Amino acid sequence: MKIGMIGTGKMGGTLGKLWAEKGHQVFFGSRQPQKVQELAAQVGHGAQGGSVAQAAAYGEVLLLGVPWKAAQETVQSMGNVDGKVLIEIVNGVDMQKGPALGFTTSIAEQIAAWAPGARVVNAFNSVHWETLLEPDFDGQSATLFYCGDDAAAKTITAQLGAEIGLDPVDCGPLWMARQLEPVGFLWIYLAYVAGQGPQTALKWLKR
Ligand SMILES: NC(=O)c1ccc[n+]([C@@H]2O[C@H](COP(=O)([O-])OP(=O)(O)OC[C@H]3O[C@@H](n4cnc5c(N)ncnc54)[C@H](OP(=O)(O)O)[C@@H]3O)[C@@H](O)[C@H]2O)c1
Repeated sequence: MKIGMIGTGKMGGTLGKLWAEKGHQVFFGSRQPQKVQELAAQVGHGAQGGSVAQAAAYGEVLLLGVPWKAAQETVQSMGNVDGKVLIEIVNGVDMQKGPALGFTTSIAEQIAAWAPGARVVNAFNSVHWETLLEPDFDGQSATLFYCGDDAAAKTITAQLGAEIGLDPVDCGPLWMARQLEPVGFLWIYLAYVAGQGPQTALKWLKR
């Protein structure tokens, strides 16, 4: 699958590397194309690097992993993304005030409004980047909660998560991001405010 990584930091860089290792064709898109060409060379497996617009044009699937403050500008710089699967992982967390947009909408819905032709899936909010490297916790894999309005886009997201060892759980339509984004907030609170640290993950149990 051709995947454009928009945002090449801890999350975008790590996911791009892991998906390239799984045989996907990965294109890293950055505000600094020179920097990501070096990243692509390090990753290998045919990975490429260039601008955000180039990565967005390349990918059938796009991963949006930028800070919330940069999300609108980044989405607008992607160009035409009609019909593409857009997996957005953006957390907008203020430890004093809570979720950036409150509880009556979500970052995922806002991003979908900025990219109305894209098939937006919200995912990865509560998965720390180090968990991507080591998703197994004593035989149990960390849960990948995700939601969206396009069934095929969600299936692709679930497959991409499962391929790297996560346990995908479909959480319904895109507006359920109003619930999932605060779950990311919960995880950040437990890890960094309550002091449990980043070697922790959330798990949905079932019998
Ligand atoms: N870290 C985690 O464990 C984690 C887990 C779940 C979700 N998230 C969310 O995923 C997103 C990415 O997190 P991250 O940890 O990968 O962040 P990061 O390491 O800081 O990387 C962010 C990337 O965003 C790009 N970017 C574009 N505009 C930017 C701007 N104005 N300022 C700074 N960076 C800008 C940068 O790429 P270029 O410089 O190449 O353009 C940078 O590599 C965030 O929304 C975060 O809340 C993070």
